[in-house]
Amino acid sequence: MATSNLKVLVLHGPNLNMTGFREPDVYGKKPLDELDKDIKAAAEALDIEVRILQSNSEGVLIDTIQEHRRWASAIVINPGGLTHYSIALRDALVSVRLPIVEVHLSNVHAREEFRRISVIAPITIGQVVGFGGYGYIMALNALLNLEREVV
Ligand code: DQA
Repeated sequence: MATSNLKVLVLHGPNLNMTGFREPDVYGKKPLDELDKDIKAAAEALDIEVRILQSNSEGVLIDTIQEHRRWASAIVINPGGLTHYSIALRDALVSVRLPIVEVHLSNVHAREEFRRISVIAPITIGQVVGFGGYGYIMALNALLNLEREVV
């Protein structure tokens, strides 16, 4: 396999630590640490370096984005409920000038009206929604495909 230069920061926002336990019919039955294992295994197979962090705090997510501005070549983020209103998170993502992919476990467009609004989506390459934890792996593949198209 060709080597990739991709270094991807994967961020899970508020309440995603409860994945597997909260609303399993909506978010799936796999706990977050298992989703993270799947992400790491896929990243290794794709020759992508990943760092993964979950936080319930908007400030910690913003600090982490800023701290990784030189290390990361892309960001994959599931902003949880912050998706729908956090201008501060959006500003942080814009400020680092990296390609962003937004992931949601559930199909946010098939749920309550307020979940259809994302203040993050307009500054991303694209959204992956509704495929559970596999969405993160789809996002890694999409970034790799973009890198290969450009190089
Ligand atoms: C979510 C969707 C959000 O609307 C919600 O607030 C979450 C999880 C998802 O992954 O489907 O916390 O981001």
